[in-house]
Amino acid sequence: MSEELKLDLLKRLDACGAVEDAAAAYPGVAVEAILGALKSLESQEKVAYETLATEVWSVEAEGEDQLAHGSYEAQIFAAVPPGDEGISIDELKARFGAAKASLGQGRGFKNKWIKKTGANVVRLVDAIVDETRADLETIKATGTHPAKDVLKALKGRGLIKAAKVLSYAVRKGPRFSTELKKQATDLTAAMLHSGAWKTAEFKKFNFDALGISPAGGHLHPLMKVREEFRQVFFEVGFVEMPTNSFVESAFWNFDALFVPQKHPSRKLQDTFYVRDPPAATSLPAFWQDVKRVHESGGYGSIGHRCEWDVDEAQCLVLRTHTTPVSARMLYQLAQGPYRPAKYFSIDRVYRNEAVDNTHLAEFHQVEGAIADKNMSLGSLIDFLGVFFEKMGITNLRFKPTFNPYTEPSMEIFSWHEESGKWLEIGNSGMFRPEMLRPMGLPEDVKVAGFGLSLERPTMIKYGIDNIRKLFGHSVAVSMIEASPACRLDKKMGQEVFQAADEC
Ligand code: PHE
Repeated sequence: MSEELKLDLLKRLDACGAVEDAAAAYPGVAVEAILGALKSLESQEKVAYETLATEVWSVEAEGEDQLAHGSYEAQIFAAVPPGDEGISIDELKARFGAAKASLGQGRGFKNKWIKKTGANVVRLVDAIVDETRADLETIKATGTHPAKDVLKALKGRGLIKAAKVLSYAVRKGPRFSTELKKQATDLTAAMLHSGAWKTAEFKKFNFDALGISPAGGHLHPLMKVREEFRQVFFEVGFVEMPTNSFVESAFWNFDALFVPQKHPSRKLQDTFYVRDPPAATSLPAFWQDVKRVHESGGYGSIGHRCEWDVDEAQCLVLRTHTTPVSARMLYQLAQGPYRPAKYFSIDRVYRNEAVDNTHLAEFHQVEGAIADKNMSLGSLIDFLGVFFEKMGITNLRFKPTFNPYTEPSMEIFSWHEESGKWLEIGNSGMFRPEMLRPMGLPEDVKVAGFGLSLERPTMIKYGIDNIRKLFGHSVAVSMIEASPACRLDKKMGQEVFQAADEC
């Protein structure tokens, strides 16, 4: 049917140049079928069409009654005999029913056809013209009335109603022809081979189609935001560090970073220690330099002036941050001839923390390190400005803080418009010579580092209020499926780091 309709439409267009009212041209055909045929032909550019919407009026049941027997006011007038006596109102009620009698009398009074005298109604004129009935006749015959106010008034009286009727004015399209060719949906190898692609008609892509959502393979929101961070790092020339050292020696996690062996963060309450295997099998050759710098200092430092125990350094921990990943890379860098380096990583870290709405014992850190002879705190501030701008964060402030491995150290704050507060978005600083020099890095090579959480911006971007709904055993698979495959807020905006001050 639809093929026949399409062909017929094309034939008519060929013969007449245009079809002004397609619904009128196909009286027995549902308007939806006509539209379907037109859409299909339009996608092939064979036709172009315009939608015509007209208001068609029809007479309601009460209107039909008045059309058949005269308007109520005319019926009442006819029932009132000429002369001064007239007819009693009760009589009219009895004859026509209370509602009809009252409506008819009301309009009769208004038209000055009749008037009330005592309990009776008498005529004021000898003859009347029943305009209501005439108007209803016009509407019934033509579907409309030349006077808009008549339509409005009759609609107000509940005698008529309007309906929208659609039709289409059709013209030839740029690729008009009377033939219907099957359209190819794909360019195939066979078509290229045979040359059929030269004459084939291709079905147009429908970019508005929603598509079928895939049944599997949804990326977790954390992985999507991780990818956004990765792309920003790549844009500014960073190299990704290997992060597979989830179990790390206390040496790399703490000692190589000049964290004193008595530091509170090394306690069981903060760090997960690994029982089996009991200890790291080997330490890098510079462990003795680390021991020396902890115990008695060097490179301008007086050290911690406490005994440094190699057994303590050999304990295994679940890494509490990704700075040991940077430390390993910097050590590697120190083994070769000098070259500047920019490193980043995004991966899991573990802390022995009480789990609540914003804290987990396991989360992801975004880590960066820049090694260069000219690196300074000023250039770190400059870099962080560029880095965060790429995330859509332009208003930064820095506050001095303390880290065992950086000096000076700065917390990074950004202005959050919505809450009217400066929020902490990360931690940073210049790695200490006590960390870098034992590794073998030359004195004039300075290294800046910074770190932030991945969970916080992800929760805010995806509107997740509880970290346990984002990560861990109580995550609903539906959350992962329902999270948009791509967000269009390319600039991540300050709200990304809304709750980062709780890091
Ligand atoms: N390791 C720090 C943290 O866990 C972040 C940091 C990295 C700070 C590098 C300074 C330099 O919060």
